[in-house]
Amino acid sequence: MKYLYIICVLLCVYSCREEEPTAKPHTLKAAFANSFIMGVAVNKAQYTSKEIDATNIVLKHFNSITAENSMKWQYISPQQSVFDFADADAFVNFGIENNLKVIGHTLLWHSQLPEWVHAITDSAELRNIMYTHIDSVAGRYKGTIHGWDVVNEAFHNDGSFRDTVFYKYMGQAFIEEAFARAHSVDSSAELYYNDYNMTFEGKRNAVVDMIHNLKNKNIRIDAVGMQGHWNLEHPSLEDIETSIIAYTNAGVDVMITELDISVLPRDENPYEQELPEHIENKLSERYKSLFQLFYKHRNKISRVTVWGVHDGQSWLNNHPTEGRTDYPLLFDRNYEAKNCVYAILNIF
Ligand code: XIL
Repeated sequence: MKYLYIICVLLCVYSCREEEPTAKPHTLKAAFANSFIMGVAVNKAQYTSKEIDATNIVLKHFNSITAENSMKWQYISPQQSVFDFADADAFVNFGIENNLKVIGHTLLWHSQLPEWVHAITDSAELRNIMYTHIDSVAGRYKGTIHGWDVVNEAFHNDGSFRDTVFYKYMGQAFIEEAFARAHSVDSSAELYYNDYNMTFEGKRNAVVDMIHNLKNKNIRIDAVGMQGHWNLEHPSLEDIETSIIAYTNAGVDVMITELDISVLPRDENPYEQELPEHIENKLSERYKSLFQLFYKHRNKISRVTVWGVHDGQSWLNNHPTEGRTDYPLLFDRNYEAKNCVYAILNIF
């Protein structure tokens, strides 16, 4: 009887242990569920489920999507008055069907802008075209887009205005006009300014001034996107932190958008066959310390979006030079979670 009792107690202790809920999250979106939205950029094969292994990663680990290309002006309106929404529609529907927060990228950008827009030199005509574009695109998806990158990459690193067709013929007011118009078209969407090198002092000051200007004029801006096209060393965690705080102090949320960490020295392609273990470890450490920083500032950061599902499809394999083999993302060419994913999950 005594032995039976002891066995029962031991069994109970053992089974109670077994049932103890494990605190450790198994997916990225679960890990940061109470901190920020976890997003990923997707391409057509992924949001149409043709590359099903990649689609499954999106559904398992992320709760937000950005179209890597499908919403850019060049594709939506290749010729004046010609609109092709087929891909953008499929992208948005994929997001709605799977309960993902859909990010609109991007309304105004100098790159991937159709030739016919570049050719316009009259300010009134350009304003008209800009408004028509915003009305058509933001209007079509009204109520379904969580937030729009209204303006993308308007400044140089030193904070001067980039010499785009919009700045050239409409002056710096094109930014406030675009934000105001986007809000009037879809008042439920958040509105963002998005750029790279957002840790550079000159650009940071210019973006802070732009935020103040919009706010002084009562024009909606919810957040800035710091594109995270970074590498193993740069920018420093200190510079990233200083910038997160500076943007927050200006009165907006911060999003880390377009996160990818290149492991390649500029203009070289040393890891064509495989990534050496010591570099892979460095990459994991880098991702871990970045996510530790994001987690520390989770009250300021509303979203973190990685720029692609897996290494095989990263734009960095062709940028800044074509035909390289980079390893910047969280999943490898065989759709397996890389050590970076476990390093990030191990923060908890
Ligand atoms: C890139 C895409 O990843 C590529 O597929 C495309 O060829 C060029 O554009 N900043 C941005 C993104 O805001 O839209 C860019 O995406 C990367 C830089």
